[in-house]
Amino acid sequence: MALHTRLVLIGYMGSGKTSTGRELAKLLNRTFIDLDVYIEQKYGQTINDIFQSRGENYFREIERVGLAEVLTLEEVVIALGGGTPCFYDNMETVVDKSFSIYLKAEDRLIVNRLQNAKSTRPLVKDYSTEQLFDYVKEMLWIREPYYNRANLIVDAKGLKARDLLKNRLI
Ligand code: S3P
Repeated sequence: MALHTRLVLIGYMGSGKTSTGRELAKLLNRTFIDLDVYIEQKYGQTINDIFQSRGENYFREIERVGLAEVLTLEEVVIALGGGTPCFYDNMETVVDKSFSIYLKAEDRLIVNRLQNAKSTRPLVKDYSTEQLFDYVKEMLWIREPYYNRANLIVDAKGLKARDLLKNRLI
């Protein structure tokens, strides 16, 4: 099976989309695109600043446009934002235009990882550990139906990009 020209990684914040995607792109000699970074460069503002100055609804609109743009590129590995598949018809577009991989992580792993990197994530930056747990649990419940539409679902814990290739999963 030939590798799809667009491999897209999806999953909740902290599931390892960026690190796995970067590693996978390197192994495949492809360009890596992080949708959050793509948006930050396009608008010259951090995601945090965009949320703060324009609000989440505006962010979701420009995220949708950014998604459509990156899904025209070829020979790429793309990491989406945690919420990207869950707004508008984004997941439909992802299914249509790419081979998608859901990095499935349990709430405990996500909370542990997010605790060290809360400040860059506007949706969780003000939460205590306990609040974070409840929030992540609820969000996973809401978002999993979208994530589960991916072509492939893999365990995010200890995931190495080379295993995806070695085990011929993609
Ligand atoms: C978000 C996840 C973030 C970023 C924004 C919103 C979300 O991306 O797009 O802060 O809704 O889960 P990462 O999953 O890359 O942190």
